[in-house]
Amino acid sequence: MPGNEMSRYHPALPLTELDDGQLREVALAGRRVLLVRIGDRLHAASNVCPHAGSPLSMGRLRGDAVQCSLHGIRFRLSDGAIVGRALCDPLEIYATRVRDGMIEVELP
Ligand code: FES
Repeated sequence: MPGNEMSRYHPALPLTELDDGQLREVALAGRRVLLVRIGDRLHAASNVCPHAGSPLSMGRLRGDAVQCSLHGIRFRLSDGAIVGRALCDPLEIYATRVRDGMIEVELP
């Protein structure tokens, strides 16, 4: 394990506080981060829509994608790709892990 890897993971939220299908914003290291739990899968992404900045936590979960409430663009949570026509940059996606019941997010 590289020496600086641990320092890039930030404790975000106890796993028990994130409901299945919930879109949850947390503030981490000056960033607005979106956390989503779909069954046993966890996703973390920027909560700032790359189209015009709307908080994606105000949107809807559509399958494995989050749909922005402002103009309806859908971003796949596994890789940030836009579902459909690319009208803006893809969504920034972060790695997650769970340690001692705490969701941790790796930030660049
Ligand atoms: S601000 Fe999100 S789709 Fe336009």
